[in-house]
Amino acid sequence: MTDDAFISIRNVGKSYGSFRAIEEISLDIAHGEFFSLLGASGCGKTTLLRMLAGFESVSSGEIYIDGQPMSDVPPFQRPVNMVFQNYAIFPHLNVAQNIGYGLRKLKLPRADQDRMIDEMLELVQLTGYGKRRAHELSGGQRQRIALARALILKPKVLLLDEPLGALDKQLREQMQMELRRLQRAIGITFVFVTHDQEEALTLSDRIAVMSGGEVLQVDSPSGLYEAPKTRDVASFIGNMNFLDAQVTGRVNGHAYLDVQGIGKMDIPVKGTTLTEGDKVSVAIRPEKLILHDTAPAGDAIAGEIELTTYLGERSHYHVRVPGCDVPMAISSQNSHMHDPDEAKTGRPVWLTWPNDALIVLER
Ligand SMILES: Nc1ncnc2c1ncn2[C@@H]1O[C@H](COP(=O)(O)OP(=O)(O)O)[C@@H](O)[C@H]1O
Ligand SMILES: [Mg+2]
Repeated sequence: MTDDAFISIRNVGKSYGSFRAIEEISLDIAHGEFFSLLGASGCGKTTLLRMLAGFESVSSGEIYIDGQPMSDVPPFQRPVNMVFQNYAIFPHLNVAQNIGYGLRKLKLPRADQDRMIDEMLELVQLTGYGKRRAHELSGGQRQRIALARALILKPKVLLLDEPLGALDKQLREQMQMELRRLQRAIGITFVFVTHDQEEALTLSDRIAVMSGGEVLQVDSPSGLYEAPKTRDVASFIGNMNFLDAQVTGRVNGHAYLDVQGIGKMDIPVKGTTLTEGDKVSVAIRPEKLILHDTAPAGDAIAGEIELTTYLGERSHYHVRVPGCDVPMAISSQNSHMHDPDEAKTGRPVWLTWPNDALIVLER
């Protein structure tokens, strides 16, 4: 456990009978962090969240929250609260009663309860809505009530399982901003589950990318995007071009590669274990490639336009490169007037890239 870990997941695994839902995972989450679990459906996100909440036991390992081992602590005694995708709002209660629901067992004086509810209404920007009924509310308002209800007991950790999944795109984006503001305002730790990479990138301080019950990489949004450690992470986050390559030599900080469609290249690589003969992938993001009409000096990939998609602000191109099985994807900003001739299929083009844009990944 590192010193500033508020939640420490140590070698935690989960089996349902003979089915392994979570392989041994170790993760540290800092106090006040907005931490996301990101991965395709079925990769184990909800299972991990439910183990944090105490709704599921761990099959192996231990979860520590605020330094305390959690295995013998029942859900209601853990310093966490959970918000679900299908926000369970009680239809027979009004907004204030819904938000104050968890206070009932605390037996606080009425005036204190009312004050706490008012604070929560203000926090989720629903001041004046206390008397409304659940059916008089929009999806976004209902989700804010679910948040307020989870936050009124002042948990140290809020667990959120795809809480925006049921909202349409516009409302979802609005609620993302709202969640981020809320988390900053109250400063508690959020563990947020989503299968939506854009949502995870927008919201999170750090993200754990999960697949098949394993954590593939934990990093900041820019770390995951700019420096993915595996091909799976590189293709899961954003779009990526991959070129097959072979390592032909290695000198301090540089690798010599023979790259499909390009030929011999010299790429700066740090801290990898690449050795001569290794088969690797050279990865590059579509927006890092620069399209030229004439052959530039130095390293370039020659090809021809196969497809252009004009999107107003930017255009996407597919460039067919001799020797490559899949076309290269390029995304470029339309900072000049669009010339329809540029889109012509078969037009010869050259691609260049800034040297630090190439990522070498093991294949
Ligand atoms: N109670 C359970 N019994 C058996 N298998 C389960 C149970 N809960 C989840 N699983 C399985 O564990 C895997 C991970 O599920 P889950 O954590 O819900 O994934 P995610 O939330 O990432 O979509 C899935 O294959 C799912 O079918
Ligand atoms: Mg789930």
